[in-house]
Amino acid sequence: MSQADKYTTEKIIELQIWASNLFSFKLTRFSGYRFVPGQFSRLGIKKENGDIVWRAYSIVSASYDEHLEFFSIVVPDGEFTSRLDKLKVGDEMLVEKMNYGSLITTRFEQGKDLWMLSTGTGLAPFISILHELDTWETYENIILVYSVREAKEFAYLDTIEGFKAHEYFSEFSEKFRFVPIVTREKIPGTLSERIPTLLESGMLEQEVGLGLDPERSRIMICGNPEMCDDTRQWFTNHGYVVSRRSKPGHLALENLW
Ligand SMILES: Cc1cc2nc3c(=O)[nH]c(=O)nc-3n(C[C@H](O)[C@H](O)[C@H](O)COP(=O)(O)OP(=O)(O)OC[C@H]3O[C@@H](n4cnc5c(N)ncnc54)[C@H](O)[C@@H]3O)c2cc1C
Ligand SMILES: NC(=O)c1ccc[n+]([C@@H]2O[C@H](COP(=O)([O-])OP(=O)(O)OC[C@H]3O[C@@H](n4cnc5c(N)ncnc54)[C@H](OP(=O)(O)O)[C@@H]3O)[C@@H](O)[C@H]2O)c1
Repeated sequence: MSQADKYTTEKIIELQIWASNLFSFKLTRFSGYRFVPGQFSRLGIKKENGDIVWRAYSIVSASYDEHLEFFSIVVPDGEFTSRLDKLKVGDEMLVEKMNYGSLITTRFEQGKDLWMLSTGTGLAPFISILHELDTWETYENIILVYSVREAKEFAYLDTIEGFKAHEYFSEFSEKFRFVPIVTREKIPGTLSERIPTLLESGMLEQEVGLGLDPERSRIMICGNPEMCDDTRQWFTNHGYVVSRRSKPGHLALENLW
């Protein structure tokens, strides 16, 4: 297979800016592109000299959407995002035909509560997972935790609140709890400690009104690598096991850098 057979060339069809360093973009989707919610794509941008710079991006959109959506940080001088930041609607991006990643619910042992713990753009895969009917039908309780530094960095709040009135998912609205966290400002209605601290103090369980228990809780973690490490450590210390392809467990995680 030649290099060019490994990807398709897609077009940007929509951009949405959330904050000075955060935005989302939608791409046309090759009709044969398949993924499991929670997985990531590899996206490419052609450099000035013709080389391609590739980066992993968690898919935000639903498996059944006609487009592919992504949620991105802009890293000053980042090789990929400094170029991405300059693209406009109609510009081209490359998408590898393969999709990747094990941040998926299908490798879990059967459970009752799904806890999705995110920081920053780590929210992305959970928006996709929440657009899956199977997620709502499988779990008795679904908890989304989303931590940002400052409130202006929150994205997708309308989508998250919108699940309560969603045409397919509103019947499950009683199952859903959203826990926003803002760590560098005091904002009413949000928690202000980091996720591992909230786990250690029991404050997260208290806020949600539900206990964590490896018998019933299935945990997904995505975002800042140190957050992922510290949070995984807390769970493994409390009897949770990371899911493997050959051995289903209670825990799945994805570091974003
Ligand atoms: C499995 C996987 C999924 C990913 N999904 C996403 C996603 O959905 N959205 C997204 O924006 N990025 C995502 N990333 C990160 C992405 O691949 C790039 O690192 C990011 O686009 C920056 O690229 P860059 O070349 O500009 O900077 P890089 O040279 O890649 O990164 C430079 C530095 O920027 C910081 N950084 C990188 N990515 C992030 C981030 N997402 N949030 C905060 N700080 C960051 C880190 O300090 C990193 O060392 C993912 C990475 C992996 C491995
Ligand atoms: N104003 C700025 O200069 C600015 C703003 C945003 C981003 N950035 C740049 O963008 C990059 C990423 O920023 P980001 O805000 O998306 O990601 P981030 O630094 O990972 O912060 C997102 C959330 O994750 C939390 N977090 C960070 N480390 C953690 C850990 N070890 N355990 C638990 N929670 C943790 C943060 O809490 P804490 O607040 O406690 O760290 C915050 O609530 C940074 O490297 C930074 O250089 C700069």
